[in-house]
Amino acid sequence: MGSIVAIGAQWGDEGKAKMIDYLTRESDIVVRYQGGANAGHTVVVNDEKFVFHLIPSGILHEDKKCVIGNGVVLDPILFIEEMEVLEKKGINVKDNLVISDAAHFILPYHKIIDAALEEFQQENKIGTTKRGIGPCYSDKCLRIGIRVGDIMDEKYLKSRITTVLKIKNLQLQGTYNEKPFTVEEIMDILMTFKKKAGNLIKNTQTYLHQEIAHGKKILLEGAQGYGLDMDHGTYPYVTSSNPSIGGALLGTGLNSVNVTEVIGIAKAYVTRVGEGPFPSEADEEAGERLRVNGNEFGATTGRPRRTGWFDATLLKKSAMINGLTQIALTKLDVLTGFEKIKVCVGYDMDGERADDVCLSRYYKVKPIYVEIDGWEENISKCRSFEELPINCQNYVKFLEDEVGTPITYISVGPGREYTFKK
Ligand code: IMP
Repeated sequence: MGSIVAIGAQWGDEGKAKMIDYLTRESDIVVRYQGGANAGHTVVVNDEKFVFHLIPSGILHEDKKCVIGNGVVLDPILFIEEMEVLEKKGINVKDNLVISDAAHFILPYHKIIDAALEEFQQENKIGTTKRGIGPCYSDKCLRIGIRVGDIMDEKYLKSRITTVLKIKNLQLQGTYNEKPFTVEEIMDILMTFKKKAGNLIKNTQTYLHQEIAHGKKILLEGAQGYGLDMDHGTYPYVTSSNPSIGGALLGTGLNSVNVTEVIGIAKAYVTRVGEGPFPSEADEEAGERLRVNGNEFGATTGRPRRTGWFDATLLKKSAMINGLTQIALTKLDVLTGFEKIKVCVGYDMDGERADDVCLSRYYKVKPIYVEIDGWEENISKCRSFEELPINCQNYVKFLEDEVGTPITYISVGPGREYTFKK
């Protein structure tokens, strides 16, 4: 039995949480492998809404284990808040969640620096979520990060924080004109975390391999999406981690032999939040219609998302880089009522076909569209491919042919029950 990786195939917000919730039913363990509280996942169960930022949504299943992997950057304050909200709703977090001792903590100075960096580069700002993601990952690379496991040895932790704050406070005061932090302030935050969540900490890399050896089925859950990947995405308009397949292995300690399926989750249209190129961005009228129909407002920041047409060329690259074996197509119902639906099937750069251009050059390309006939019928009650109106079926088949990867799941509404196998 192999592990499955579920990856956002576009620029994030593809409806991953709902698909992951669905796929969780066929798994024993769900692992979040990268990113932090920049992600916002909403799952609706029996009309009750659950918003997740750090904890895998698999936690809603009493019989599943969830893991926050070593590739995640964890905000201890937000984590405790999220855990307590879930526990108040009767979800058993304590017995079903483990946190990697090698994950890194996002500390208050990371968030201050994130906001200050955006302020400094006004002209070229990234439009980050200001959750401290970039500064935390950069400290990890500089080897001045604080890891979750560090809190188990308070003497060692204190000496690490003392050293790190010497550097951080210079940066905060000298470069950003911000107030310094004391060792006690940071220790307080981490000791509160230890008190409330210390018993969840584990060597998750070993744990996962042991569970695989016992025949357990693992689902690796990505945050954000391929287009926001630091290496493969629209750099510098990306997040500071690797949502793509490489990040899944790196952020869990699993290897390519362990993975048998890679499911790309893609919306039936495209959205992106923040700055950066977006070749198939829709015009104002269609864009607003997609935004309203699809309720495209960020779960983390509340920002309106930019909306556009399905970009099959982007998806093809996503399939290639991630080794997608299947695609889950979400929010197909949002397209109902459009007389014509555009699909981007290639790019033009300075009058030449440029489908192979790398994503960081996307600001130079113009989309080449094909128009597909839309449908009027309400599809939210459809529970099989055959029940979909013929034009809707044709749209799905067209995407499948263009991308060259089978679409195996379709979702036509927000709750669990709206997803079906094709
Ligand atoms: P950061 O991850 O906060 O550093 O933000 C970097 C870029 O990634 C910005 O354009 C954000 O809007 C985008 N981003 C981060 N997390 C998400 C997400 O969960 N969904 C969509 N976009 C995201």
